[in-house]
Amino acid sequence: MGRKTVLLLLVGIFMAYYVYTPLPDNIEEPWKLTGFNLILKTISDIEEKWRRNRALVGELLGINHFMNTLMFLMSFQDVPPTSDETVTVMDTTFSNVPVRVYIPKRKSEALRRGLFYIHGGGWCLGSAAYYSYDILSRRTANRLDAVVISTNYRLAPKYHFPNQFEDVYNVLKWFLCQDILKGYGVDPKRIGISGDSAGGNLAAAVTQQIIDDPDVKIKLKIQSLIYPALQTLDMDLPSIRENSHFPVLPKSLMVRVWSEYFTTDRSLEKAMLINQHVPVESSYLFRFVNWSSLLPEKFKKGHFYSGPTHGPSELARKYSGFLDVRAAPLLADDNKLHSLPLTYVITCQYDVLRDEGIMYVTRLRNAGVRVTHNHIEDGFHGIITFPEFKIGHRVENQYLSWLSENL
Ligand SMILES: *[C@@H]1O[C@H](CO)[C@@H](O)[C@H](O)[C@H]1NC(C)=O
Repeated sequence: MGRKTVLLLLVGIFMAYYVYTPLPDNIEEPWKLTGFNLILKTISDIEEKWRRNRALVGELLGINHFMNTLMFLMSFQDVPPTSDETVTVMDTTFSNVPVRVYIPKRKSEALRRGLFYIHGGGWCLGSAAYYSYDILSRRTANRLDAVVISTNYRLAPKYHFPNQFEDVYNVLKWFLCQDILKGYGVDPKRIGISGDSAGGNLAAAVTQQIIDDPDVKIKLKIQSLIYPALQTLDMDLPSIRENSHFPVLPKSLMVRVWSEYFTTDRSLEKAMLINQHVPVESSYLFRFVNWSSLLPEKFKKGHFYSGPTHGPSELARKYSGFLDVRAAPLLADDNKLHSLPLTYVITCQYDVLRDEGIMYVTRLRNAGVRVTHNHIEDGFHGIITFPEFKIGHRVENQYLSWLSENL
């Protein structure tokens, strides 16, 4: 064996060890997923090292924050608002918040449907201009012959809760005005809201809150939540236990972005990781996220429910946002849920957020809301924004079909 071969072998073993994540058999295209994971893991490892040597390297390069690094890398994937033969695309602002608007070009005698879209990215990342959101919005506008408003919002770590929520709320409120809808040729009776991941969180939150706004007369016809984040209370759900090291969104990253939504102080993150962040005074909230009573048998199998765990009151005093229903829509009571529109929820088997999505389905149904639940048995977090994966197209297709039939 030559020296080169030995070296290659060593590099190979190192790489295999570094990227190796055992994946379930029903995952399509496992190597693509492993590749994705390698990129994320590398960035997060480099950041961790930088953070430790902040004085030396981090500050010097100005990329000492993991989210800023990711944001910087992702910004290369933003695309300009380019119209094509079927859709007019433009960037504008609604209520001083930047949005991207998609209007079908084909002639229409009647008013069109309207879809309000909120991108994901853990309240820290992403943009309506991100290439896969841009593609999704074009396809939505085309397939539904609908006007699509894809909103931006201020992001962490620079801005924290409730800025993200408020930006989205204000844009939606601006859009749900008779005059604005008329200007865009949108039918006020056929407006829907949609979002994925953190965008699904914001979609669920603004849908709950806008119902009670006396200034808003126009009602949303449907809400569509794609693997949404819905609760901050229990960081030990079966889906979190099962998928804590799964690619794309491991538990560590999920907890990181949740805590980053409220504060850059990492003591909240530390407490959330060990599930000791909710003060005893807020114990009554646990009934809203009780997986022992809200999950179907199939998802509880092999897990033991040990009840709520608590931490110091100080965190909740300092960062009260994490117990706010506008951040954690699963904490809404049944009266609130009862008034919600027809709902579509996508959950993925291999996703830490799976169980909160399923619990929301259960709670909405118990409150009398009609819900279509699409559980993707071979799905993982983020699929709809990965046009590189076949499964992304399949799920996007199901989602657009549902919208087409129900909006
Ligand atoms: C959760 O549900 C189980 C089973 O229904 C029940 O025994 C338990 O008391 C509940 N716990 C909380 C905190 O709601």
